Amino acid sequence: MTDVAFVLGTRPEIIKLAPVVQACQRFEVDYTIIHTGQHYSDSLDSVFFDQLELPEPDYNLGVGSSSHGEQTGEMLIGIERALTETAPDVVLVQGDTNSVLAGAIAASKMDAELGHVEAGLRSFDRSMPEETNRVVSDHVSEYLFAPTEQSKTYLLDEGLSEHRITVTGNTVVDALLRNREIARQKSNVIADLGLEGTEFFVMTAHRQENVDDEARFRELLAGVERAAEAHDAEVIYPVHPRARDRLEAFGLDVPDRIRTIEPLEYLDFLRLSSMADLILTDSGGVQEEACILGVPCVTMRDNTERPETIDVGANRLSSCDPGQIVASATEMLLKGNDWENPFGDGDAAERILRALPLEIKSREVAQ
Ligand code: UD1
Ligand code: UDP
Repeated sequence: MTDVAFVLGTRPEIIKLAPVVQACQRFEVDYTIIHTGQHYSDSLDSVFFDQLELPEPDYNLGVGSSSHGEQTGEMLIGIERALTETAPDVVLVQGDTNSVLAGAIAASKMDAELGHVEAGLRSFDRSMPEETNRVVSDHVSEYLFAPTEQSKTYLLDEGLSEHRITVTGNTVVDALLRNREIARQKSNVIADLGLEGTEFFVMTAHRQENVDDEARFRELLAGVERAAEAHDAEVIYPVHPRARDRLEAFGLDVPDRIRTIEPLEYLDFLRLSSMADLILTDSGGVQEEACILGVPCVTMRDNTERPETIDVGANRLSSCDPGQIVASATEMLLKGNDWENPFGDGDAAERILRALPLEIKSREVAQ
């Protein structure tokens, strides 16, 4: 028996659930971590457990990489077994990956309450696997932890009842506020990459719709190169393994101004991002972090499930068209960065625990 089972499997889930795991530790809530093994390379997995001081997962299902159906199906089998053994009162999933979908479906058919952290995000683009994962997970959850009022509105529009929804802020803020100063003090990434006193952009690109499409990936790289040239900047690109695999398979040459490096640890990535003049990305979490850090962002996608970043003026959609990437980069660089962070105050994890049907033993949270 355990109070809370966390089902997680990828880099962003580890980062964004870390504050909730740590809140469980502070408030003496019993928990179990079930890792699906969707991410297994050290650079996407164990480095984050180490750096965020998380305990080893209680289960690692070792599911690894395969097609969507095979991967999700294997997770479903393993998660159901782990939940049967641990009998949690509550299962928590975070975000929109296949691990979230499997965790949500498994939990929804068992005697446990399901909570979805980062509920109500919508790109309204069903061609993205993440959109299906979000919609299905939200509709089978008892507890919907919406990061913003906007995400709550999307849930209400789909007929989900208000009593299930709590607006908490996004736990990405909790993680960032906890680690930004530590990153400033401990990370040597700027010196290690020889970037002191230079103008540089950070880029990430790993989404299936961008990097699995050769023409689109080629355009994206050309656009970033042209934007960097226009502003005489260097670009640092920590390459996700999916993108590395596609670069090699397509035989794509990365333009000179884009320096590819291995995926970074969280503290190094935070430090690098916080010092960048501009961030170009297709990542969900990186759009949020850029906005919170006050660094202008260009999102190389046709849509975003984080419209708040655009509404406050921190982000602009460019698609993968080179001309639009250049124009968006120039516009964002000229704009200044005095927007408000729309993702909350860094107490999202605590709000999530308070909303759950748990016996909270610590006096600190009981007040
Ligand atoms: C997944 C999520 C995506 C999220 C991303 C976070 C889904 C459908 N997609 O995408 O929403 O933004 O995680 O980073 O859940 N690979 C490795 N090592 C690993 C993991 C993957 O080398 O530890 C490589 C393999 O070649 C694999 C490919 O990356 O085939 C894709 O991995 P997969 O888990 O299917 O999706 P991600 O692209 O990581
Ligand atoms: N990140 C990291 N190192 C990197 C690139 C990203 O630590 O080299 C972190 C980043 O700080 C953010 C998260 O990974 O918190 C975003 O994950 P990702 O882009 O893989 O997934 P998405 O958010 O798009 O689902």
